[in-house]
Amino acid sequence: MGKLDGKVALVTGGTSGIGLATAKLFVAEGAHVYVTGRRQEKLDAAVKEVGAGITGVQGDVASLADLDRLFSQVKQEKGRLDIVFANAGAAEFAPFGQVDEAHFDRMFDGNVKGLLFSVQKALPLMPDGGAVVLTSSVVGSKGLSANTVYAATKAAIRSFARTWTTDLKARKIRVNVVSPGPVDTAGLRELLGDSPEGQQRKQGFAQIVPIGRLGHADEIARAVLFLASDDSSYVTGTELFVDGGMGQV
Ligand SMILES: NC(=O)c1ccc[n+]([C@@H]2O[C@H](COP(=O)([O-])OP(=O)(O)OC[C@H]3O[C@@H](n4cnc5c(N)ncnc54)[C@H](OP(=O)(O)O)[C@@H]3O)[C@@H](O)[C@H]2O)c1
Repeated sequence: MGKLDGKVALVTGGTSGIGLATAKLFVAEGAHVYVTGRRQEKLDAAVKEVGAGITGVQGDVASLADLDRLFSQVKQEKGRLDIVFANAGAAEFAPFGQVDEAHFDRMFDGNVKGLLFSVQKALPLMPDGGAVVLTSSVVGSKGLSANTVYAATKAAIRSFARTWTTDLKARKIRVNVVSPGPVDTAGLRELLGDSPEGQQRKQGFAQIVPIGRLGHADEIARAVLFLASDDSSYVTGTELFVDGGMGQV
């Protein structure tokens, strides 16, 4: 028996990294999972990789029209959504003096606006007792250089979980945050670059993590499963750091 037998789940940004690892685990635990992403070829590859129990819907979370199309498909096919893992997001470095409007808008549109409307528009499909998990980051609680805007987007997400826990109390929908430390995903590799300097930056991250290495996407997925399942039935409004200790010591 799986922990999510019969559940319908959404994983935004489910075609790569943390989202894909979570989608796989949710399917293995018995859920039917909808995954989204902007690139059709990545979506097709993810759906093929997982096989059964998964539906891919192309779309940008920052586009309200794309979100409306997604939820209308879920409504038509399944009629409900028990679990929302609002995970889609991206990071870009920009020293404070070099932050420009385009960088600010990209970060806030994808990470904050997209996440807010992913959850808000999912709510009419969610039965009472559903679970919402939001991906923030340990960076939201740190003062790392060149992270002014990205860190602020992730702090906003942590704040959403507090307010929505109150807003959704009557419906018994639990809202929690998972905050990864540095995790070896395509997203992180793209951020750091494949150059020797990028490799050095990666090693630098590993050194500042008490556990002494980068995390694996599967390690985040297991924490998300905990927050999405009845195993965490008395947990809401919290932030679960899965960060190798980076934000804790
Ligand atoms: N890896 C880390 O070290 C780390 C640490 C802390 C927090 N996080 C957070 O974890 C989440 C996942 O990151 P990851 O490392 O797994 O990255 P990843 O491997 O790049 O995966 C990101 C996923 O999100 C999708 N995506 C990005 N922007 C989107 C948008 N606007 N609309 C729809 N889909 C979008 C991507 O597909 P498309 O590009 O095709 O849209 C992809 O499926 C992000 O929120 C990130 O900020 C990551």
